[in-house]
Amino acid sequence: MIVMNDKYILAIESSCDETSASIIKNGHEEIATVVLSQMDTHANYGGVVPEIASRMHIENITMVLEETLMKSNMTMDNMDAIAVTYGPGLIGSLLIGVEAAKTLAYIYNKPLVPIHHIAGHIYANNLEKEMEFPLIALVISGGHTELIYMKENYNFKRIGGTLDDAVGEAYDKVARVLNLPYPGGPLVDKLAFEGEDTYDLPIPLDDNSYNFSFSGIKSAVINLRHNEEQRGNEINLENLACSFQNRVIKILTKKTMRALKEYNVKNLIIAGGVAANKGIRNEFVKLCEENTINLTIPPINRCTDNAAMIGAAGYYAYKLNHFGDLNLNAKATDELH
Ligand code: KG4
Ligand code: ZN
Repeated sequence: MIVMNDKYILAIESSCDETSASIIKNGHEEIATVVLSQMDTHANYGGVVPEIASRMHIENITMVLEETLMKSNMTMDNMDAIAVTYGPGLIGSLLIGVEAAKTLAYIYNKPLVPIHHIAGHIYANNLEKEMEFPLIALVISGGHTELIYMKENYNFKRIGGTLDDAVGEAYDKVARVLNLPYPGGPLVDKLAFEGEDTYDLPIPLDDNSYNFSFSGIKSAVINLRHNEEQRGNEINLENLACSFQNRVIKILTKKTMRALKEYNVKNLIIAGGVAANKGIRNEFVKLCEENTINLTIPPINRCTDNAAMIGAAGYYAYKLNHFGDLNLNAKATDELH
């Protein structure tokens, strides 16, 4: 039943290689979501090929939107606003979602709500349980590694982030060195559980800042493999995966737990594709229990890109009148604000 005060957001996400649409009620209830992943296509090339991604978004966006509406048993007239990821991401991919959202907003005369992709990842947690403030959000994905302080809904203060590679990017590059197919992150995670921490790798950027750096440890893994091969030694892939993963866990947990303490925050949320990592999840669960921190991590299907998270963020942006107009443009890079 549709009640007057309920707000329904139709959301669109197309920033990388997933074409997705979703209908979210009141910022926390998922009515229907469709995610069409292009992963199998890009796996043939060892990574996302931007031109192929945008072409596939064009082919799929109408179908994904129609299927979402069909699954919801609702019509465009029932929607209160259209939310869309405007950035950051691949510009050609973002443009397809933004143009689709603008077209729908124009035809059906609905407000347009532009959403920052990272805000979406954070609000994936609101679909699990209503987020409590103040909180610290650790966003770890293929494109981002960010520590964010939120005093209240839709108030983001970036306290640190990666200076070079994102953590997911480092996982994927290490995976390539271990001869694993793309995307290698989940496979490194799996191997890590079968090995032991035997390789002497550096803890990346172990300093007093809230910034991260993963290019050094990635190079250390590449060099180690190269040197061992030249000496005619065989690499133990499981042990190397385990040693790498342990250093990543160490630095992510150390800086995040320090941020919670310094900002006197009792709520931690973890978001983004790498939040699917079992080793990272397990360690945060343990540390948060020990320190009585409220921890929320979305289920794995809401860690990777999807439009449900954009619809959840979209509701709060809508309530704050964060509207775009028909001049809205996609942005490959943009600060979270
Ligand atoms: O959030 P996402 O779907 O896309 C971006 O916005 O970047 O994240 C994808 C990233 C890839 O780098 C993938 O390898 C990584 O998340 N990933 C993982 C795991 N599952 C996905 N990395 C480490 N361990 C995992 N279990
Ligand atoms: Zn993402």
